[in-house]
Amino acid sequence: MQRLTVAGIRHEAQLREMLREPAQSLRRGGLVAFPTETVYGLGANALEEEAVRRIFAAKERPRDNPLIVHIADDDQLRDVIDENQPLHEDAVRLMRAFWPGPLTLLLPAGARLAPSVHPGQPLVGVRMPDHPVARALIAEAGVPVAAPSANRSGRPSPTTADDVVADLDGRIDWLVDGGPCPIGVESTVLLLEPDCARILRPGGVTQEMIASVIDRPVLYAADVFDVASAPLAPGMKYRHYAPNARVHVWWGEPEAIDEAMRAFLLEAVQDDDLMVPALIAPDDFVRRFGWALSDERQAALPADTYAEELARHLYRLLRAFDGAGATDVLVHGVDPTHGVGAAVMNRLYKAAAGRVRWVG
Ligand code: TXA
Ligand code: MG
Repeated sequence: MQRLTVAGIRHEAQLREMLREPAQSLRRGGLVAFPTETVYGLGANALEEEAVRRIFAAKERPRDNPLIVHIADDDQLRDVIDENQPLHEDAVRLMRAFWPGPLTLLLPAGARLAPSVHPGQPLVGVRMPDHPVARALIAEAGVPVAAPSANRSGRPSPTTADDVVADLDGRIDWLVDGGPCPIGVESTVLLLEPDCARILRPGGVTQEMIASVIDRPVLYAADVFDVASAPLAPGMKYRHYAPNARVHVWWGEPEAIDEAMRAFLLEAVQDDDLMVPALIAPDDFVRRFGWALSDERQAALPADTYAEELARHLYRLLRAFDGAGATDVLVHGVDPTHGVGAAVMNRLYKAAAGRVRWVG
């Protein structure tokens, strides 16, 4: 694997010049990991079946899990969607409002796409990323790029180049290092149904934002906040975001969260559990929290922007705490009804396999 660092460079012409080799590799069937504003993607030429199949092999990804196609401009949209079907007017509104950006729209798939991009599905997920490196790489490659997150299947998504190395070194051709990803959780996946728009996966473009540009109701798919039916043992559908450590989430009133976390830790001590706890919480909460944790297993994030900071750092922290030997990660949750909180709590529900409690 060749690694190229372009972190901090934003100028398009300069980026395209620097990215010539990985872009050529992409065009010719290579696998190239690259940064987006959400997480790192593992890209392949979306028009080449052989190349797309290599993504599934490198990630050990189930073959029936569809990929998102990334485009750099409107012209590339025509290469990936069905030209014989008129674009839905709400789709056009959403593209105008949120592209480039973290919104994936499910649209009728074009015939030129490699079949493995959308296995057994008439629709394909398409997005135009809002990251100068991603845009320059795709533009320079000159082809639409199929890219799932650049992690091994079942691991947290990578938000730094080193996370990609940890999961995929030796399995891919290029890694483009553009520094840490600013948003930190994956894009919103949206399906336009006849009577509503349905969020299949919450992300950086929120329910409120979508509702502000289209008239139909914007609903969440049933499994997005699957508290009631979430199994206590991690099931298949929860493997996606799981670290090795058990994740436990509390949200509600800070005093009640404090009390519940302490009671949880105390019980483990009394039961002689060999628990190695880690904590993610707002800095003011951590200051008041009386339980001593080692620095390498404690993250105190700025309280006034906690939801955004949690989104940005969650996956990296889960990986770091695994590396530091944590058996249990205690997380101070956020309000899922507001902004990026929906995306964060959705990932936490999945990482915690249902161990999420509201404490009033
Ligand atoms: O932010 C992101 O979306 C990142 C970056 C790299 O762009 N990509 C990403 O891809 O998260 P991935 O493969 O990890 O997640 C894609 C998910 C699929 O697991 C599936 O749930 C949904 O998007 N999806 C894609 N195409 C679909 C389709 N045709 N029908 C239904 N769901 C689809
Ligand atoms: Mg993924």
